[in-house]
Amino acid sequence: MNVLVTGGLGFIGSHTAVELLDKGHEVIILDNLYNSEIAVKDKIEKITGKKVKVYAEDLLEKSAIEKIFNENKIDEVIHFAGYKAVGESTVKPLMYYHNNLMSTINLLEVMKENNVKKFIFSSSATIYGDPGVSKYVEELGRGKTTNPYGTTKSMIEQILEDLYASDKEWTICLLRYFNPIGAHSTGLLGEKPNGIPNNLMPYILKVAAGELEVLSVFGNDYDTPDGTGVRDYIHVVDLAKGHVSALDKITKSGLYVYNLGSGRGYSVLELVNTFEKVNGVKINYKIAPRRAGDLAEYYADPSKALKELNWKTEKTLEDMCRDAWNFMKKEIK
Ligand code: NAD
Ligand code: UFG
Repeated sequence: MNVLVTGGLGFIGSHTAVELLDKGHEVIILDNLYNSEIAVKDKIEKITGKKVKVYAEDLLEKSAIEKIFNENKIDEVIHFAGYKAVGESTVKPLMYYHNNLMSTINLLEVMKENNVKKFIFSSSATIYGDPGVSKYVEELGRGKTTNPYGTTKSMIEQILEDLYASDKEWTICLLRYFNPIGAHSTGLLGEKPNGIPNNLMPYILKVAAGELEVLSVFGNDYDTPDGTGVRDYIHVVDLAKGHVSALDKITKSGLYVYNLGSGRGYSVLELVNTFEKVNGVKINYKIAPRRAGDLAEYYADPSKALKELNWKTEKTLEDMCRDAWNFMKKEIK
């Protein structure tokens, strides 16, 4: 199939492009380079030995999307493009609503005009809000989100539901990711956050690299085994494969929703200890107050994805820690 991958030079999109190419799909990437580099194109090609067509265009420019649909026969779209920093979204909500919502609407309009009606969307576990349980199953549905970024994800899910209700020819798949970390085993692709990272693994990497002095562990008085926050970390390559499974397995029109997670949670200290053990690097950390808005513990119920997509995570927390550090070491050389 010919797959348009928006945001395909970013962290999850680039790994997904690799998995799609490996499975024999053609990949066309649209990315405005807001949070990525054109050099990623060469890296995808180096890993796969295949060519990928890249358009350095912005989804906010509808004419640019039209041009791509005119120049290519596109069967299906995987939509990763968007802004994703939770903290920034609370300071610049309009920027987040504008980019994430408008770019998605532009894309869906051009798809409709071209009668391309197969769409996979990057959603997030954040849409569950605070459902009062730790194990998130799809049926819980969307809860009250706690930041504008999360609200854009929830709103886009709603837009897609409405679109499907209006036209049952669409095949729409909402993939709700848990906490993607890790990197490609070649060390060529990974996550490169600018400035001081908000998320745990990128922060650990910068401490390991000596760029930041100490990791603040946000709270050790949660009702969890060691008191620190528990999350369902998923290797980005496993996550990428989940998209290929969705693309291959879902052949009938419909609205589909899947959690993509491992089904088990690890605490902040478990992640720190595993990172230290597999990489032989010391992570200097201190216990700090809880971060506002954080939940104590949550993880996926991934059984629906196993049953219907025949997909489950394969990589371990050790793999995630090893691959992330391998990527970082190459970056800082
Ligand atoms: P990323 O920032 O690495 O990739 C997103 C890409 O989209 C970037 O390359 C950026 O340049 C591009 N982009 C942004 N706005 C654009 C626009 N208007 N036009 C064209 N390109 C644009 O992020 P990621 O971690 O790879 O996340 C991919 C998707 O998955 C996002 O939608 C994100 O919200 C979602 N998601 C991520 C996580 C996570 O923890 N990484 C968790 C849940 C969901
Ligand atoms: N944490 C620390 N110190 C840090 C950073 C994080 O102790 O410097 C802790 C957090 O308190 C939490 C855990 O590490 O317990 C994970 O935090 P992250 O910031 O890495 O991830 P979140 O679970 O907060 O959120 C992430 C993405 C969201 C996405 C959500 C989906 O940032 O975009 O996963 O579940 F919506």
